[in-house]
Amino acid sequence: MAAFAERLFTPPPMTRCECAEMRFEEIETKLDQHRLTLEELGKRTGCAQTCTACLPDLKAFLARKR
Ligand code: FES
Repeated sequence: MAAFAERLFTPPPMTRCECAEMRFEEIETKLDQHRLTLEELGKRTGCAQTCTACLPDLKAFLARKR
């Protein structure tokens, strides 16, 4: 029952940075194309830098892709 309740109340992972209006796939592409770190891209675009709510899911997304 606890697992069911946890699944019921756990929000799905974020798939974009709402503050910068960038999908995680777009962030990944920019990181690769411009050979930037996430911190460097964040300074340029604001992604994962404003409220940082997307940061845990973005890091998990990037870790799965690399
Ligand atoms: S949702 Fe990414 S910084 Fe706010």
